[in-house]
Amino acid sequence: MKYNKTDKKDNTFNCWVCSNEIEPFMSFGKQPIANNFLLEKDFDNEYFFEMETAFCPNCYSFQLKNQPSPEQMFNENYAFFSGTSKLMADHFKKFSSMVLSFIESDKDPFVVEIGSNDGIMLTNFAKKNIKHLGIDPSENVVNVSKEKGINAVVDFFDEEVAKKTVEKYGKASAFIAANVMCHIPYINSIVDGIDILMKDDGVVIFEDPYLGEVVKKTTYDQIYDEHTFLFSAHSIKEIFARKGFELIDLIPQETHGGSMRYILAKKGARTVSKNVSEILNLEQDQGLTSPETFKIFKNNCEEYKRKLLSTLEEIRSSGKSIAGYAATSKSTTIINYCGITNNHIDCIYDTTPIKQGKFSPGSHIPIKPHSDFSQNYPDYALLFGYNHSKEIFAKEKDFVAQGGKWITYVPDIKII
Ligand code: SAH
Ligand code: TYD
Ligand code: ZN
Repeated sequence: MKYNKTDKKDNTFNCWVCSNEIEPFMSFGKQPIANNFLLEKDFDNEYFFEMETAFCPNCYSFQLKNQPSPEQMFNENYAFFSGTSKLMADHFKKFSSMVLSFIESDKDPFVVEIGSNDGIMLTNFAKKNIKHLGIDPSENVVNVSKEKGINAVVDFFDEEVAKKTVEKYGKASAFIAANVMCHIPYINSIVDGIDILMKDDGVVIFEDPYLGEVVKKTTYDQIYDEHTFLFSAHSIKEIFARKGFELIDLIPQETHGGSMRYILAKKGARTVSKNVSEILNLEQDQGLTSPETFKIFKNNCEEYKRKLLSTLEEIRSSGKSIAGYAATSKSTTIINYCGITNNHIDCIYDTTPIKQGKFSPGSHIPIKPHSDFSQNYPDYALLFGYNHSKEIFAKEKDFVAQGGKWITYVPDIKII
């Protein structure tokens, strides 16, 4: 795996994609590892890094300057299990049907997924006895997928792993991924690997949180250690062009607060949907190719920070209690950038066993099991899992019936 940390004296660095020299437009301050829920004994050794973001005007990649090494983030203690959301399971079932529709004429289909995690996606292929392989470096989540009968290996995908995969299984009909391509700083090696792995008429389908939505809604919480990139159609077009791939479709998704599904194939191999030029034009109009847009984005982030803190402080000064709801990775940026502490919120309720009984990264707010929430409703619940609001509001009707109020901050700071 190729991973070169940038280490220059001035604040410039080389774009992860095109090596153009660029400079961060903003810092979110010292940030911890967003999924590193920790015990009190580990507070003194917690890892922090200066989280700065930059935009490359040459290849349109929105990116982090620095981040922890991939091994620090993705290992046998990885805390994110995809299967915690039922709606995401439905989402991936539909995703898999779409993949199948692209490869239905293939007599010997083979689907490779990277970031396969606990098998939430591949289970749909395994059930249909379709040859598949999951590749994911986090051993604990891979083990869960294996228990579900999924064929998976613990590894960081790159061109070397692609070669080994072809030797063992042959070439792939579909390369798929969700919420992982944007995690990988050595993205050029991933594209080289995809090129090695794919059949000539193979299809690449992946989705990630979308830069256009982040800019539109100021959802800066999508920026955290794992997200090296926030992609747009323009940036994906550039990243894949080097190996002769073209975008053949773009499909906006509601997941993770607004994502984009990118579908690519070798140039000329498949029909190009009119969505591609439409979305590229919309991105031009939105300013996603212009550095000026990110100056405005920075101001919006600062404004959001002031508003959220003053809302919490007002509630606390009136003597009411606030608890966080869902210890998402995204909440790590909100909490640490805004300076939210245990004085603002008493604890965060979450359904993931590995997070419970631990403390949130950076600001060390206690994480409690979701089952305790209804035993001890707070006056206000700060909804860190806003991207699951439909699912959460439906299951927490009692909280509201008993006078509880939600504080949400996307798309605006609101009390409902
Ligand atoms: N696809 C799932 C999981 C996303 S979390 C979903 O959308 O819910 C990101 C996953 O990518 C983690 O399980 C992490 O271990 C994995 N990952 C990180 N870098 C990777 C790489 N180079 N190759 C394959 N998987 C990787
Ligand atoms: P998600 O937005 O997928 O996380 P991330 O920002 O890490 O990508 O949310 C997953 C977290 O939310 C996980 O810790 C479980 C928690 N959660 C709840 O506590 N209750 C719920 O009803 C749901 C849907 C998620
Ligand atoms: Zn670049």
